[in-house]
Amino acid sequence: MAVGIFDSGLGGLTVLSAVEARLPDLPLVYFGDNAHTPYGVRDADDIYDLTTRGVQALFDMGCDLVILACNTASAAALRRMQEGWVPQDKRVLGVFVPLIEALTERKWGDNSPPRPVAVEHVALFATPATVSSRAFQRELAFRAVGVDVEAQPCAGVVDAIEMGDMILADALVRSHVEALMRRMPKPEAAILGCTHYPLVEDVFRDALGEGVAVYSQPDLVAEALADYLARRPEFIGDGQGTRFVTTGDPASVSNKATQFLRRRIEFTAADI
Ligand code: DGL
Repeated sequence: MAVGIFDSGLGGLTVLSAVEARLPDLPLVYFGDNAHTPYGVRDADDIYDLTTRGVQALFDMGCDLVILACNTASAAALRRMQEGWVPQDKRVLGVFVPLIEALTERKWGDNSPPRPVAVEHVALFATPATVSSRAFQRELAFRAVGVDVEAQPCAGVVDAIEMGDMILADALVRSHVEALMRRMPKPEAAILGCTHYPLVEDVFRDALGEGVAVYSQPDLVAEALADYLARRPEFIGDGQGTRFVTTGDPASVSNKATQFLRRRIEFTAADI
């Protein structure tokens, strides 16, 4: 019926927005688990339970393909879901691989051995759960050698964004960038490894300064999805338009989403 986009809250809207721009006719259902955000401070079992519950709701709404537009869920739950939980006729894709392919200048399906790449010092900004999973480093090691990754767990940033407190989010981002740059003064690239962070991307860019290439996921994920659907058109679905559902309070989530996307967004209560 539609492609599902899942996030713990509002961050996945950055991916939804890029997907809508790249594939304007694609029917979508957005699921925000706002009642349980943030995921980034939870343990892996908890994240797995919440993610499978939300993705099941999207399956039940007719989505055969779901994008986990959440690095924390992709890092902590995706592999376990793909190994034993996702039904054969459904697909669940994460957001890490398009980012790492861009960083390592690889095309989809390039399974050649890991090789040296242009960047050697990479700063990773992500939630505490994503950082402690080391999933980014693992995926990178399949494709590249000789890359030094310094990771900063950005405690508090997702909460501040979910509360709509952008002044606090700004201050936290600056202090996390400063903390990382004390350990790695000259990164060549910075990865925004959380789908909430594009909402404060300008602050990251400003704090990092010139000369740091910033990799942000929304456009990369939208391009990877377009590529996937060109190869697997049966997952496009025949629904109409975009629906937004949340486990949180629909009125308050709608208001914040409207503020972030700068157009009126109406969430309804998720039926779970
Ligand atoms: N947007 C999620 C991510 O990409 C948010 C994490 C959270 O809920 O802490 O990691």
